[in-house]
Amino acid sequence: MSFVSHRILIVDDERSASDYLRVLLEERDFEVRTTANGIEALIALENQSYDLVISDIRMPQMDGLELLEHLKDRWPEVPAIMLTANESVEDVVGAIQLGAINYLVKPASPASLSSAVDKALVSRPFRGEVSGAVPELIGASKAILEVRHKVVMAARSDVHILVTGDTGTGKELVSRAIHSHSSLSTGPFIAHNCALAPTELFESEFFGHRKGSFTGADRDHEGLLRQADGGVLFLDELETMTMPHQAKLLRVIDDGEVRPVGAEKSQVVSVRFVAATNRDPRPMMADGSLRDDLYYRLRGIEINLPTLRERREDIPLLAVHFLGDDALEFSTEAMEALTRAPWPGNVRQLRNIVQGAKAASGGARITLTHLSLETMDLDGEGAGAPLETAAAAVPLSRGLSLREVERRAIVQALEDCSGNRTRAAKLLDIDRSTLRRKIQEYGLEG
Ligand SMILES: Nc1ncnc2c1ncn2[C@@H]1O[C@H](COP(=O)(O)OP(=O)(O)OP(=O)(O)O)[C@@H](O)[C@H]1O
Ligand SMILES: [Mg+2]
Repeated sequence: MSFVSHRILIVDDERSASDYLRVLLEERDFEVRTTANGIEALIALENQSYDLVISDIRMPQMDGLELLEHLKDRWPEVPAIMLTANESVEDVVGAIQLGAINYLVKPASPASLSSAVDKALVSRPFRGEVSGAVPELIGASKAILEVRHKVVMAARSDVHILVTGDTGTGKELVSRAIHSHSSLSTGPFIAHNCALAPTELFESEFFGHRKGSFTGADRDHEGLLRQADGGVLFLDELETMTMPHQAKLLRVIDDGEVRPVGAEKSQVVSVRFVAATNRDPRPMMADGSLRDDLYYRLRGIEINLPTLRERREDIPLLAVHFLGDDALEFSTEAMEALTRAPWPGNVRQLRNIVQGAKAASGGARITLTHLSLETMDLDGEGAGAPLETAAAAVPLSRGLSLREVERRAIVQALEDCSGNRTRAAKLLDIDRSTLRRKIQEYGLEG
Protein backbone atom coordinates (compact mmCIF):
# COMPACT_ATOMS: atom_id res chain seq x y z
CA MET A 1 0.00 0.00 0.00
CA SER A 2 2.99 2.25 0.33
CA PHE A 3 3.05 3.29 -3.32
CA VAL A 4 0.33 5.80 -2.59
CA SER A 5 1.07 7.42 0.70
CA HIS A 6 -2.13 7.71 2.67
CA ARG A 7 -2.36 10.50 5.18
CA ILE A 8 -3.69 9.54 8.60
CA LEU A 9 -4.78 11.89 11.37
CA ILE A 10 -4.42 10.60 14.95
CA VAL A 11 -6.34 12.28 17.76
CA ASP A 12 -5.47 11.42 21.37
CA ASP A 13 -4.81 13.49 24.46
CA GLU A 14 -2.37 10.91 25.74
CA ARG A 15 0.93 11.60 24.08
CA SER A 16 2.29 8.10 24.65
CA ALA A 17 -0.79 6.57 23.00
CA SER A 18 -0.58 8.70 19.87
CA ASP A 19 3.18 8.18 19.60
CA TYR A 20 2.65 4.42 19.77
CA LEU A 21 0.24 4.57 16.85
CA ARG A 22 2.43 6.98 14.93
CA VAL A 23 5.45 4.66 15.12
CA LEU A 24 3.44 1.66 13.99
CA LEU A 25 1.86 3.51 11.08
CA GLU A 26 5.03 5.28 9.97
CA GLU A 27 6.70 1.88 9.81
CA ARG A 28 4.16 1.10 7.12
CA ASP A 29 5.04 4.32 5.27
CA PHE A 30 1.85 6.16 6.06
CA GLU A 31 2.06 9.89 6.47
CA VAL A 32 0.93 10.56 10.03
CA ARG A 33 -0.08 13.68 11.91
CA THR A 34 -0.99 13.68 15.62
CA THR A 35 -3.29 16.07 17.46
CA ALA A 36 -4.39 16.20 21.12
CA ASN A 37 -8.13 16.80 20.91
CA GLY A 38 -11.13 17.31 18.64
CA ILE A 39 -10.56 21.03 18.13
CA GLU A 40 -6.97 20.55 17.01
CA ALA A 41 -8.12 17.76 14.72
CA LEU A 42 -10.75 19.93 13.06
CA ILE A 43 -8.15 22.63 12.44
CA ALA A 44 -5.85 20.03 10.88
CA LEU A 45 -8.69 18.77 8.67
CA GLU A 46 -9.40 22.32 7.50
CA ASN A 47 -5.82 22.73 6.41
CA GLN A 48 -5.17 19.43 4.73
CA SER A 49 -7.02 16.42 3.39
CA TYR A 50 -6.76 13.10 5.23
CA ASP A 51 -7.60 9.58 4.17
CA LEU A 52 -8.39 8.32 7.65
CA VAL A 53 -8.96 9.63 11.17
CA ILE A 54 -8.12 7.48 14.19
CA SER A 55 -9.48 9.08 17.33
CA ASP A 56 -9.69 8.43 21.03
CA ILE A 57 -13.20 8.90 22.44
CA ARG A 58 -12.64 10.38 25.88
CA MET A 59 -10.66 13.63 25.55
CA PRO A 60 -10.83 17.09 27.09
CA GLN A 61 -12.12 20.14 25.17
CA MET A 62 -13.79 18.24 22.38
CA ASP A 63 -14.28 14.50 22.71
CA GLY A 64 -14.11 11.90 19.97
CA LEU A 65 -17.84 11.59 19.46
CA GLU A 66 -18.30 15.30 18.94
CA LEU A 67 -15.35 15.29 16.56
CA LEU A 68 -16.96 12.41 14.70
CA GLU A 69 -20.17 14.39 14.34
CA HIS A 70 -18.30 17.31 12.78
CA LEU A 71 -16.27 14.96 10.62
CA LYS A 72 -19.32 13.18 9.19
CA ASP A 73 -20.97 16.52 8.65
CA ARG A 74 -18.14 18.24 6.79
CA TRP A 75 -16.00 15.44 5.43
CA PRO A 76 -18.37 12.49 5.21
CA GLU A 77 -16.08 10.55 2.91
CA VAL A 78 -13.25 10.36 5.46
CA PRO A 79 -13.51 7.08 7.43
CA ALA A 80 -12.94 7.13 11.18
CA ILE A 81 -11.74 4.45 13.56
CA MET A 82 -12.44 5.11 17.22
CA LEU A 83 -10.32 4.04 20.19
CA THR A 84 -11.84 3.10 23.51
CA ALA A 85 -9.91 2.59 26.72
CA ASN A 86 -12.30 -0.03 28.03
CA GLU A 87 -14.80 -1.73 25.80
CA SER A 88 -17.68 0.55 26.73
CA VAL A 89 -20.71 -0.52 24.73
CA GLU A 90 -22.16 2.95 25.20
CA ASP A 91 -19.18 4.60 23.51
CA VAL A 92 -19.06 2.03 20.75
CA VAL A 93 -22.79 2.36 20.07
CA GLY A 94 -22.43 6.14 19.92
CA ALA A 95 -19.44 5.92 17.60
CA ILE A 96 -21.03 3.44 15.21
CA GLN A 97 -24.25 5.42 15.10
CA LEU A 98 -22.32 8.55 14.26
CA GLY A 99 -20.71 6.74 11.35
CA ALA A 100 -17.40 5.37 12.65
CA ILE A 101 -16.30 2.52 10.46
CA ASN A 102 -14.66 0.52 13.24
CA TYR A 103 -13.37 0.69 16.80
CA LEU A 104 -10.30 -0.63 18.59
CA VAL A 105 -9.77 -1.29 22.26
CA LYS A 106 -6.64 0.38 23.64
CA PRO A 107 -3.87 -0.57 23.46
CA ALA A 108 -4.53 -1.91 19.96
CA SER A 109 -2.16 -4.67 18.90
CA PRO A 110 -0.07 -3.88 15.81
CA ALA A 111 -1.93 -6.59 13.89
CA SER A 112 -5.42 -5.36 14.77
CA LEU A 113 -4.42 -1.75 14.06
CA SER A 114 -2.96 -2.70 10.71
CA SER A 115 -5.97 -4.69 9.67
CA ALA A 116 -8.45 -2.02 10.79
CA VAL A 117 -6.50 0.64 8.89
CA ASP A 118 -6.39 -1.47 5.73
CA LYS A 119 -10.11 -2.12 5.87
CA ALA A 120 -10.87 1.52 6.42
CA LEU A 121 -8.67 2.63 3.52
CA VAL A 122 -10.10 -0.01 1.21
CA SER A 123 -13.56 1.23 2.07
CA ARG A 124 -12.68 4.79 1.31
CA PRO A 125 -13.17 4.95 -2.45
CA PHE A 126 -16.69 3.60 -1.97
CA ARG A 127 -17.60 5.72 1.02
CA GLY A 128 -19.18 9.00 0.13
CA GLU A 129 -19.83 7.99 -3.46
CA VAL A 130 -23.33 7.04 -2.53
CA SER A 131 -24.71 9.09 0.31
CA GLY A 132 -23.33 7.58 3.49
CA ALA A 133 -22.12 4.48 1.60
CA VAL A 134 -24.88 2.07 2.59
CA PRO A 135 -24.94 2.77 6.32
CA GLU A 136 -27.83 0.34 6.79
CA LEU A 137 -25.46 -2.56 6.18
CA ILE A 138 -23.67 -2.97 9.47
CA GLY A 139 -20.22 -4.52 9.51
CA ALA A 140 -16.54 -3.79 9.00
CA SER A 141 -15.34 -7.20 7.84
CA LYS A 142 -13.64 -7.55 4.50
CA ALA A 143 -16.58 -9.62 3.28
CA ILE A 144 -19.13 -6.95 4.12
CA LEU A 145 -16.98 -4.17 2.65
CA GLU A 146 -17.00 -6.14 -0.56
CA VAL A 147 -20.80 -6.38 -0.37
CA ARG A 148 -21.09 -2.63 0.25
CA HIS A 149 -18.88 -2.00 -2.74
CA LYS A 150 -21.10 -4.18 -4.93
CA VAL A 151 -24.23 -2.49 -3.62
CA VAL A 152 -22.77 0.87 -4.59
CA MET A 153 -21.88 -0.43 -8.05
CA ALA A 154 -25.30 -2.00 -8.43
CA ALA A 155 -27.03 1.20 -7.35
CA ARG A 156 -25.05 3.22 -9.88
CA SER A 157 -25.61 0.87 -12.78
CA ASP A 158 -28.86 -0.05 -14.47
CA VAL A 159 -28.35 -3.79 -14.90
CA HIS A 160 -30.52 -6.40 -13.22
CA ILE A 161 -29.25 -7.87 -9.97
CA LEU A 162 -29.15 -11.32 -8.43
CA VAL A 163 -28.66 -11.52 -4.67
CA THR A 164 -27.71 -14.91 -3.24
CA GLY A 165 -27.00 -16.09 0.30
CA ASP A 166 -28.24 -18.24 3.17
CA THR A 167 -31.40 -17.45 5.06
CA GLY A 168 -31.17 -14.32 7.18
CA THR A 169 -27.95 -13.00 5.64
CA GLY A 170 -29.57 -9.75 4.47
CA LYS A 171 -30.72 -10.37 0.90
CA GLU A 172 -33.81 -8.25 1.24
CA LEU A 173 -31.93 -5.54 3.13
CA VAL A 174 -29.35 -5.39 0.34
CA SER A 175 -32.04 -5.32 -2.36
CA ARG A 176 -33.80 -2.42 -0.68
CA ALA A 177 -30.47 -0.64 -0.24
CA ILE A 178 -29.75 -0.95 -3.97
CA HIS A 179 -33.08 0.69 -4.70
CA SER A 180 -32.75 3.44 -2.13
CA HIS A 181 -29.24 4.42 -3.24
CA SER A 182 -30.06 4.30 -6.94
CA SER A 183 -31.49 6.90 -9.27
CA LEU A 184 -34.78 4.98 -9.07
CA SER A 185 -35.15 5.69 -5.35
CA THR A 186 -38.06 8.03 -5.99
CA GLY A 187 -39.75 5.26 -7.97
CA PRO A 188 -41.51 2.27 -6.41
CA PHE A 189 -39.93 -0.76 -4.76
CA ILE A 190 -42.36 -3.63 -5.20
CA ALA A 191 -41.57 -6.84 -3.32
CA HIS A 192 -42.99 -10.13 -4.51
CA ASN A 193 -42.42 -13.50 -2.92
CA CYS A 194 -42.51 -16.09 -5.70
CA ALA A 195 -43.04 -18.90 -3.18
CA LEU A 196 -46.28 -17.49 -1.89
CA ALA A 197 -48.03 -16.55 -5.12
CA PRO A 198 -50.62 -19.06 -6.30
CA THR A 199 -49.21 -20.31 -9.59
CA GLU A 200 -52.54 -20.21 -11.41
CA LEU A 201 -52.69 -16.47 -10.89
CA PHE A 202 -49.23 -15.75 -12.28
CA GLU A 203 -50.42 -13.91 -15.40
CA SER A 204 -52.78 -11.71 -13.47
CA GLU A 205 -50.32 -11.04 -10.64
CA PHE A 206 -47.54 -9.97 -13.00
CA PHE A 207 -49.41 -8.47 -15.93
CA GLY A 208 -52.63 -7.36 -14.25
CA HIS A 209 -56.10 -7.89 -15.62
CA ARG A 210 -59.16 -6.05 -16.84
CA LYS A 211 -62.38 -6.15 -14.94
CA GLY A 212 -64.55 -9.07 -16.07
CA SER A 213 -61.74 -10.85 -17.92
CA PHE A 214 -62.31 -13.98 -15.81
CA THR A 215 -64.60 -15.13 -13.01
CA GLY A 216 -63.69 -13.22 -9.90
CA ALA A 217 -62.04 -10.33 -11.76
CA ASP A 218 -64.45 -7.81 -10.33
CA ARG A 219 -62.21 -4.83 -10.93
CA ASP A 220 -59.15 -3.81 -12.93
CA HIS A 221 -55.89 -5.03 -11.48
CA GLU A 222 -52.68 -3.21 -12.21
CA GLY A 223 -50.26 -6.13 -11.73
CA LEU A 224 -46.71 -6.15 -10.38
CA LEU A 225 -44.97 -5.06 -13.57
CA ARG A 226 -47.02 -1.92 -14.01
CA GLN A 227 -46.87 -1.19 -10.29
CA ALA A 228 -43.08 -1.36 -10.46
CA ASP A 229 -42.83 0.81 -13.60
CA GLY A 230 -40.04 3.34 -13.09
CA GLY A 231 -38.73 1.46 -10.09
CA VAL A 232 -37.62 -1.93 -8.83
CA LEU A 233 -39.44 -5.27 -8.81
CA PHE A 234 -37.92 -7.46 -6.10
CA LEU A 235 -38.48 -11.15 -6.80
CA ASP A 236 -37.85 -13.08 -3.60
CA GLU A 237 -37.33 -16.85 -3.50
CA LEU A 238 -36.76 -16.97 -7.23
CA GLU A 239 -35.90 -20.67 -6.91
CA THR A 240 -39.59 -21.48 -6.52
CA MET A 241 -40.70 -20.03 -9.86
CA THR A 242 -41.87 -22.68 -12.34
CA MET A 243 -40.13 -23.10 -15.71
CA PRO A 244 -43.05 -21.77 -17.82
CA HIS A 245 -43.23 -18.69 -15.61
CA GLN A 246 -39.48 -18.22 -15.87
CA ALA A 247 -39.89 -18.13 -19.65
CA LYS A 248 -42.57 -15.44 -19.39
CA LEU A 249 -40.47 -13.46 -16.96
CA LEU A 250 -37.48 -13.64 -19.29
CA ARG A 251 -39.55 -12.29 -22.17
CA VAL A 252 -40.79 -9.32 -20.20
CA ILE A 253 -37.30 -8.57 -18.90
CA ASP A 254 -36.20 -8.35 -22.51
CA ASP A 255 -39.01 -6.37 -24.10
CA GLY A 256 -40.78 -4.75 -21.13
CA GLU A 257 -44.07 -5.43 -22.86
CA VAL A 258 -47.05 -5.85 -20.58
CA ARG A 259 -50.51 -6.86 -21.73
CA PRO A 260 -52.99 -7.26 -18.88
CA VAL A 261 -55.27 -10.29 -19.02
CA GLY A 262 -58.33 -9.30 -21.03
CA ALA A 263 -56.73 -6.14 -22.44
CA GLU A 264 -56.45 -5.41 -26.14
CA LYS A 265 -53.29 -3.39 -26.09
CA SER A 266 -50.00 -3.82 -24.39
CA GLN A 267 -47.84 -1.15 -22.87
CA VAL A 268 -44.12 -0.98 -22.30
CA VAL A 269 -42.79 -0.64 -18.77
CA SER A 270 -39.35 0.17 -17.48
CA VAL A 271 -38.56 -2.07 -14.53
CA ARG A 272 -35.30 -2.90 -12.82
CA PHE A 273 -35.31 -6.51 -11.57
CA VAL A 274 -33.62 -7.54 -8.36
CA ALA A 275 -33.99 -11.25 -7.64
CA ALA A 276 -33.04 -13.13 -4.48
CA THR A 277 -32.47 -16.79 -3.77
CA ASN A 278 -31.02 -18.80 -0.92
CA ARG A 279 -29.96 -21.58 -3.24
CA ASP A 280 -26.79 -21.69 -5.26
CA PRO A 281 -27.94 -20.98 -8.84
CA ARG A 282 -25.40 -23.31 -10.48
CA PRO A 283 -26.84 -26.61 -9.22
CA MET A 284 -30.30 -25.24 -9.96
CA MET A 285 -29.35 -24.75 -13.59
CA ALA A 286 -27.77 -28.20 -13.63
CA ASP A 287 -30.91 -29.89 -12.30
CA GLY A 288 -33.14 -27.93 -14.64
CA SER A 289 -34.96 -25.82 -12.07
CA LEU A 290 -33.48 -22.49 -13.23
CA ARG A 291 -33.25 -21.39 -16.84
CA ASP A 292 -29.67 -20.50 -17.81
CA ASP A 293 -30.80 -17.59 -19.94
CA LEU A 294 -32.84 -16.13 -17.08
CA TYR A 295 -29.88 -16.51 -14.75
CA TYR A 296 -27.52 -14.70 -17.13
CA ARG A 297 -30.08 -12.00 -17.75
CA LEU A 298 -30.62 -11.35 -14.05
CA ARG A 299 -27.05 -11.48 -12.92
CA GLY A 300 -25.86 -8.21 -14.41
CA ILE A 301 -24.25 -8.04 -11.00
CA GLU A 302 -24.38 -11.01 -8.63
CA ILE A 303 -24.05 -10.25 -4.96
CA ASN A 304 -23.34 -13.20 -2.72
CA LEU A 305 -23.87 -12.52 0.96
CA PRO A 306 -21.50 -14.12 3.45
CA THR A 307 -22.89 -16.17 6.32
CA LEU A 308 -22.49 -14.66 9.76
CA ARG A 309 -19.96 -17.31 10.77
CA GLU A 310 -17.79 -16.23 7.85
CA ARG A 311 -17.60 -12.73 9.29
CA ARG A 312 -17.54 -13.21 13.03
CA GLU A 313 -15.69 -9.95 13.57
CA ASP A 314 -18.95 -8.18 12.71
CA ILE A 315 -20.93 -9.90 15.46
CA PRO A 316 -20.13 -7.32 18.20
CA LEU A 317 -21.02 -4.47 15.85
CA LEU A 318 -24.30 -6.11 14.87
CA ALA A 319 -25.14 -7.10 18.45
CA VAL A 320 -24.62 -3.54 19.66
CA HIS A 321 -26.64 -2.27 16.70
CA PHE A 322 -29.59 -4.54 17.48
CA LEU A 323 -29.53 -3.48 21.11
CA GLY A 324 -30.71 -0.07 19.95
CA ASP A 325 -29.63 3.15 21.57
CA ASP A 326 -30.38 2.19 25.16
CA ALA A 327 -27.51 2.51 27.58
CA LEU A 328 -27.26 -1.28 27.78
CA GLU A 329 -24.18 -3.44 27.55
CA PHE A 330 -23.13 -7.05 27.25
CA SER A 331 -21.03 -8.88 29.80
CA THR A 332 -17.73 -10.13 28.42
CA GLU A 333 -18.96 -13.75 28.58
CA ALA A 334 -22.17 -12.87 26.78
CA MET A 335 -20.30 -11.10 23.99
CA GLU A 336 -17.88 -14.00 23.70
CA ALA A 337 -20.72 -16.49 23.45
CA LEU A 338 -22.36 -14.43 20.72
CA THR A 339 -19.10 -14.27 18.83
CA ARG A 340 -18.62 -18.05 19.03
CA ALA A 341 -22.13 -19.27 18.22
CA PRO A 342 -22.65 -21.01 14.86
CA TRP A 343 -25.64 -18.84 13.75
CA PRO A 344 -27.42 -21.13 11.31
CA GLY A 345 -30.09 -18.43 10.96
CA ASN A 346 -27.45 -15.73 10.41
CA VAL A 347 -28.12 -12.04 11.09
CA ARG A 348 -31.85 -12.50 11.60
CA GLN A 349 -31.20 -15.05 14.33
CA LEU A 350 -28.64 -12.78 16.00
CA ARG A 351 -31.15 -9.94 15.93
CA ASN A 352 -33.85 -12.10 17.50
CA ILE A 353 -31.57 -13.41 20.22
CA VAL A 354 -30.26 -9.94 21.08
CA GLN A 355 -33.77 -8.53 21.20
CA GLY A 356 -34.95 -11.47 23.30
CA ALA A 357 -32.03 -10.94 25.69
CA LYS A 358 -32.80 -7.26 25.95
CA ALA A 359 -36.36 -8.03 26.99
CA ALA A 360 -35.21 -10.78 29.37
CA SER A 361 -32.65 -8.56 31.08
CA GLY A 362 -35.27 -5.93 31.83
CA GLY A 363 -32.90 -3.09 30.98
CA ALA A 364 -29.97 -4.43 33.00
CA ARG A 365 -26.61 -5.56 31.70
CA ILE A 366 -26.97 -8.55 29.38
CA THR A 367 -25.33 -11.68 30.69
CA LEU A 368 -25.01 -15.22 29.41
CA THR A 369 -28.25 -16.28 31.14
CA HIS A 370 -30.26 -13.83 29.04
CA LEU A 371 -29.13 -15.35 25.77
CA SER A 372 -31.16 -18.25 24.38
CA LEU A 373 -28.23 -19.90 22.68
CA GLU A 374 -28.81 -23.47 23.91
CA THR A 375 -30.21 -24.60 20.61
CA MET A 376 -26.98 -23.86 18.83
CA ASP A 377 -23.93 -26.05 19.17
CA LEU A 378 -21.37 -23.60 20.55
CA ASP A 379 -18.46 -26.01 20.54
CA GLY A 380 -19.15 -27.42 17.12
CA GLU A 381 -17.31 -26.42 14.02
CA GLY A 382 -19.82 -23.67 13.58
CA ALA A 383 -21.12 -25.35 10.51
CA GLY A 384 -24.66 -24.96 11.74
CA ALA A 385 -27.62 -26.64 10.17
CA PRO A 386 -27.91 -26.84 6.41
CA LEU A 387 -29.85 -23.99 4.95
CA GLU A 388 -33.20 -25.50 4.26
CA THR A 389 -33.45 -27.06 7.69
CA ALA A 390 -32.11 -24.05 9.57
CA ALA A 391 -35.52 -22.79 10.54
CA ALA A 392 -36.68 -26.22 11.60
CA ALA A 393 -33.58 -26.72 13.76
CA VAL A 394 -34.48 -23.74 15.91
CA PRO A 395 -37.67 -24.40 17.86
CA LEU A 396 -40.16 -21.71 17.02
CA SER A 397 -40.37 -20.33 20.54
CA ARG A 398 -36.67 -19.90 21.06
CA GLY A 399 -35.27 -16.44 20.57
CA LEU A 400 -37.94 -15.49 18.08
CA SER A 401 -40.22 -12.53 18.45
CA LEU A 402 -43.93 -13.22 18.50
CA ARG A 403 -44.21 -11.46 15.15
CA GLU A 404 -41.59 -13.71 13.66
CA VAL A 405 -43.34 -16.82 14.98
CA GLU A 406 -46.57 -15.58 13.43
CA ARG A 407 -44.86 -14.76 10.15
CA ARG A 408 -43.31 -18.22 9.99
CA ALA A 409 -46.61 -19.90 10.80
CA ILE A 410 -48.21 -18.03 7.90
CA VAL A 411 -45.38 -18.84 5.48
CA GLN A 412 -45.57 -22.49 6.52
CA ALA A 413 -49.35 -22.67 6.19
CA LEU A 414 -49.22 -21.12 2.73
CA GLU A 415 -46.52 -23.55 1.71
CA ASP A 416 -48.53 -26.48 3.05
CA CYS A 417 -51.55 -25.32 1.07
CA SER A 418 -49.57 -24.53 -2.10
CA GLY A 419 -50.47 -20.88 -1.78
CA ASN A 420 -54.22 -21.48 -1.52
CA ARG A 421 -55.24 -18.74 0.88
CA THR A 422 -58.67 -20.09 1.72
CA ARG A 423 -57.21 -23.38 2.88
CA ALA A 424 -54.26 -21.68 4.63
CA ALA A 425 -56.68 -19.44 6.54
CA LYS A 426 -58.63 -22.53 7.65
CA LEU A 427 -55.45 -24.21 8.78
CA LEU A 428 -54.46 -21.14 10.80
CA ASP A 429 -57.99 -20.81 12.13
CA ILE A 430 -58.32 -17.18 11.08
CA ASP A 431 -60.56 -15.71 8.44
CA ARG A 432 -59.44 -15.02 4.93
CA SER A 433 -59.41 -11.24 5.24
CA THR A 434 -57.24 -11.44 8.36
CA LEU A 435 -54.84 -13.66 6.46
CA ARG A 436 -54.80 -11.23 3.54
CA ARG A 437 -54.05 -8.33 5.91
CA LYS A 438 -51.26 -10.25 7.61
CA ILE A 439 -49.74 -11.30 4.29
CA GLN A 440 -49.60 -7.63 3.38
CA GLU A 441 -48.34 -6.59 6.79
CA TYR A 442 -45.42 -9.00 6.63
CA GLY A 443 -44.66 -8.10 3.04
CA LEU A 444 -45.27 -11.68 1.94
CA GLU A 445 -46.57 -10.50 -1.39
CA GLY A 446 -45.98 -7.60 -3.77
N1 LIG B 1 -25.42 -6.32 7.48
C1 LIG B 1 -26.55 -6.12 8.17
N2 LIG B 1 -26.66 -5.05 8.98
C2 LIG B 1 -27.78 -4.84 9.70
N3 LIG B 1 -28.85 -5.64 9.68
C3 LIG B 1 -28.80 -6.72 8.89
C4 LIG B 1 -27.66 -7.02 8.09
N4 LIG B 1 -27.91 -8.14 7.40
C5 LIG B 1 -29.14 -8.54 7.75
N5 LIG B 1 -29.69 -7.68 8.64
C6 LIG B 1 -31.01 -7.81 9.28
O1 LIG B 1 -31.27 -9.19 9.46
C7 LIG B 1 -32.62 -9.51 9.18
C8 LIG B 1 -32.72 -10.50 8.05
O2 LIG B 1 -32.33 -9.89 6.83
P1 LIG B 1 -33.10 -10.16 5.46
O3 LIG B 1 -34.56 -10.27 5.69
O4 LIG B 1 -32.64 -9.15 4.47
O5 LIG B 1 -32.49 -11.61 5.12
P2 LIG B 1 -32.74 -12.56 3.87
O6 LIG B 1 -31.41 -12.93 3.35
O7 LIG B 1 -33.71 -11.91 2.93
O8 LIG B 1 -33.38 -13.84 4.58
P3 LIG B 1 -34.36 -15.00 3.97
O9 LIG B 1 -33.54 -15.80 3.01
O10 LIG B 1 -34.72 -15.79 5.17
O11 LIG B 1 -35.50 -14.30 3.33
C9 LIG B 1 -33.30 -8.18 8.88
O12 LIG B 1 -33.83 -7.66 10.07
C10 LIG B 1 -32.16 -7.31 8.41
O13 LIG B 1 -32.43 -5.95 8.62
MG1 LIG C 1 -35.68 -12.55 2.48
